Amino acid sequence: MQSSDNAKVALVTGASLGIGYATAQMLLKEGFNVVICSRRKSELDRAINELREIGGDRIAGQTCDVRKYEEVASLFQFVDKTFGALDVLVNNAGVGLLASVEKMTVEEWHTVIETNLNSLFYCSHEAIPRMRKRSGGYIFNIGSLAGKNPHPNASAYNASKFGLIGFSEAMMQEVRHDNIRVSYILPGSVRTSFKGSDPNDPMADWKLAPEDVAQVVIDLLHHNPRSLPSAVDIRPSKPKK
Ligand SMILES: NC(=O)c1ccc[n+]([C@@H]2O[C@H](COP(=O)([O-])OP(=O)(O)OC[C@H]3O[C@@H](n4cnc5c(N)ncnc54)[C@H](OP(=O)(O)O)[C@@H]3O)[C@@H](O)[C@H]2O)c1
Repeated sequence: MQSSDNAKVALVTGASLGIGYATAQMLLKEGFNVVICSRRKSELDRAINELREIGGDRIAGQTCDVRKYEEVASLFQFVDKTFGALDVLVNNAGVGLLASVEKMTVEEWHTVIETNLNSLFYCSHEAIPRMRKRSGGYIFNIGSLAGKNPHPNASAYNASKFGLIGFSEAMMQEVRHDNIRVSYILPGSVRTSFKGSDPNDPMADWKLAPEDVAQVVIDLLHHNPRSLPSAVDIRPSKPKK
């Protein structure tokens, strides 16, 4: 399939793997032009090559560390140059580093907060004016059930994902009258490489598949715009007992 000038344009952060990759894949199947980013070029190139099988010229990407505003601004310029507009932003890039408050280093703390929280502001700040030019858009923030449930050794991750909820709800109220929709999705355990897990571990069968979370994004895009499901919890139907 070739790139389409009329197609809507989506940007998915942290999409070389896991939930972001599955979301990019489904958006391509829905006919979107899609831009993806991640930090490691080799992984990004592999993902783009695989996604070309579905999307042809409708997939493009640029390396970007979402902790750095200058790199985010350059990513959005890449979106402008490649597809000329932006309709959907999926703020998905995230990391989980676990350690007690006592043991966690200052650098680890910054890594979690800057990746999972600062990036939401950087990307949304760039996205909103572009969506206004299109008279509307949709911003999805991928949070976590850890945004509601504190765990020991997860203070940074909890703080970032609790923060995501407050950020999302405030932004939703700012832009909803301008046809810019904001939803946040809070998954439970997902079978990905997150926190060093093995996505192919047969013992992890009970977890959500990344496609389960991606499907929520697609379903919300099809939702009647009269109402806004602004928050979605999604958890394994039968978690490990
Ligand atoms: N897996 C779970 O159990 C689970 C549960 C609830 C919520 N979540 C949330 O879902 C989101 C995606 O998680 P996942 O499980 O799909 O993770 P994953 O498989 O580890 O993939 C993370 C992706 O984000 C990229 N990334 C990480 N840091 C980045 C940065 N600073 N700038 C740009 N890209 C970055 C990674 O590529 P590079 O490393 O090359 O940058 C990779 O493409 C996260 O926000 C996570 O908190 C996951």
